[in-house]
Amino acid sequence: MKILIINGSPRTKGVTATVLHMMEEELVSRGADVEFVNLSEIKMSHCLGCCSCYTTGHCCIDDDAEVLSKRIAGADGIIFGSPTYASNVSGLMKDCIDRGHFVIEQLLHGKYCITMATGENYGNGDSLTILNNLVLFSGGKLSAKVKIKVPFGDTNTVRKKTKEIIRKSVAKLVLGIKNKKIYPIQWVCHFVIFNLGIKPFVKKKGVAYRGVLKKWESKGIG
Ligand SMILES: Cc1cc2nc3c(=O)[nH]c(=O)nc-3n(C[C@H](O)[C@H](O)[C@H](O)COP(=O)(O)O)c2cc1C
Repeated sequence: MKILIINGSPRTKGVTATVLHMMEEELVSRGADVEFVNLSEIKMSHCLGCCSCYTTGHCCIDDDAEVLSKRIAGADGIIFGSPTYASNVSGLMKDCIDRGHFVIEQLLHGKYCITMATGENYGNGDSLTILNNLVLFSGGKLSAKVKIKVPFGDTNTVRKKTKEIIRKSVAKLVLGIKNKKIYPIQWVCHFVIFNLGIKPFVKKKGVAYRGVLKKWESKGIG
């Protein structure tokens, strides 16, 4: 079982990283093969908005964001973690979302995910919703969503108080993957979004979106 953990915080020893490393430990103890990526340590430019990926199937910028997108495609499970910045995900996480070929290309089709947002006062529900929608709209399955509220930099409280939340959410992810669990409400939501929204939009674009159609074909969708 391959799990990819993506840390959207610029701080590699902050609260977000601490929670994600606790999830990593829990996963390793359950026999998972885990890869941990700090977005702050990879080479990732902003999306240029040229839309050429929809035609060619790859980004015109050849950097680590492309490598990360392929790693996501090769994983069974993905954990997205971000601090809350102004009631949103971090800029790093937003770049990852924009560059990652997620929604239109259905990158998370068949993948099980955990979303996790940290914050110290108000708005981490909003950043979590952004990650949840990313998973749902991209065809992924949301096994658990985790909201952590602690004072800025208080990794001690996190280590003491979140063990059980982390154990339970990781257990849900592992069981989801092992049992190929279907989440009926998510399934219906995605069915509507994909068939009434994404699919007609892409089909209307025709050859300009041939890269997308090729990716759907390789996943057996569309
Ligand atoms: C620029 C910036 C904006 C922030 N905005 C919010 C916010 O809107 N809501 C909130 O609850 N916390 C906010 N915070 C606090 C962080 O989300 C919180 O402390 C988080 O756990 C930090 O994660 P890290 O230790 O992994 O960097 C903000 C922090 C920064 C640096």
